Amino acid sequence: MRTQVAIIGAGPSGLLLGQLLHKAGIDNIIVERQSAEYVLGRIRAGILEQVTIDLMDEAGVGQRMHAEGLPHTGIELLFEGQRHRIDLQALTGGKKVMVYGQTELTRDLMDARQALGLPTVYSAADVAVHDFDGERPRVTFQREGRSETIECDFIAGCDGFHGVCRASVPSGAITEYEKVYPFGWLGLLSDTPPVSEELIYANTPRGFALCSQRSLSRSRYYLQVPLTDKVQDWSDEAFWNELRLRLDETARERLITGPSLEKSIAPLRSFVAEPLRFGRLFLAGDAGHIVPPTGAKGLNLAASDVHYLSTALIEYYQERSQAGIDHYSQRSLARIWKAERFSWWFTNLMHRFPAEGGFGQRVQEAELDYLIHSQAASTALAENYVGLPMA
Ligand code: APR
Ligand code: PHB
Repeated sequence: MRTQVAIIGAGPSGLLLGQLLHKAGIDNIIVERQSAEYVLGRIRAGILEQVTIDLMDEAGVGQRMHAEGLPHTGIELLFEGQRHRIDLQALTGGKKVMVYGQTELTRDLMDARQALGLPTVYSAADVAVHDFDGERPRVTFQREGRSETIECDFIAGCDGFHGVCRASVPSGAITEYEKVYPFGWLGLLSDTPPVSEELIYANTPRGFALCSQRSLSRSRYYLQVPLTDKVQDWSDEAFWNELRLRLDETARERLITGPSLEKSIAPLRSFVAEPLRFGRLFLAGDAGHIVPPTGAKGLNLAASDVHYLSTALIEYYQERSQAGIDHYSQRSLARIWKAERFSWWFTNLMHRFPAEGGFGQRVQEAELDYLIHSQAASTALAENYVGLPMA
């Protein structure tokens, strides 16, 4: 097989990149380790920045997102038993975010790709990338027991944190920055109406809680838990009881509970690999960086990487210019590090760090009190939450 761009991974990064390249007349093949059903079964965050919404439109797949997504103009911060609204729209000159699950966005991209008949290999085994430091990179894999090769001009590593692309770069050529947090998020999805119209981020002495949603009838809740906890330790009832203890009185009374559709624990991590380009191999999305979920930047960062990468590749093919490719890593990393900083800051502000004790808790409460009363501090939160502009 031969193509212009071989894309490894059919998560949101790979699918969005494939769609944008196709629109510009650039051939691409996606090679994915899992089945399409498996990819759609993963429950991830669901807050889209305007930048991500615009890219979905540019890719021609924004129709259902606009019909079903819920625009949000604010978020609520809960601490010392009281909720305080941050008016994102007023503080950012009219910007909003949209509640639309990553699963739905992935489904829209998959459906569009299938309708166009674009080549996607699912359930590919032993995927390997070769010769990306030369002019003629190759991708090899096994399909139904047969060995296959794709010859290409470029390889886009959109294969997530555990993918093969970053791991194939010689260790001397890459620098990795990492921070692991001493807790995880236990998430629960349920077909119950959200407890509040807007998201609630709660700082409590019992730990962080988040009330999020997927639609007017589907809720997503999270609890900070120790890394030693196992999902099976948490019955639905235990989850709802603990969530109630971390909410304010009104929310506690309004909370409607029901059976969980999904329950899982995810550890929290900050991670950045530098650079994001190695000859003719590029890393985009989770393959190059991870943020802790506080602030929901993961998917949005993946989308901005894809914007920079698709622009660079289109420039290469249409204008015979290397400039975009040469700047891809630097341009993406500038935005990535700002989102890393924000996610790290918001995580530190909202979670209970056992080693910091009561002093840490009181300092967080003081900062939150400052935040809600200072226009400057609220604006800094709002600007970052709705997404920083693309350079
Ligand atoms: N070969 C082929 N595909 C692979 C390989 C491999 N060796 N390793 C991993 N993959 C696939 C995974 O199965 C997955 O479907 O790459 C895909 C990567 O998708 P994601 O992990 O969703 O990463 P990305 O597309 O960059 O999306 C980033 O996902 O984790 C969230 O917060 C993150 O929302 C953000 C988004
Ligand atoms: C989610 O809905 O899954 C979600 C929302 C906001 C966050 C993180 C996760 O900050």
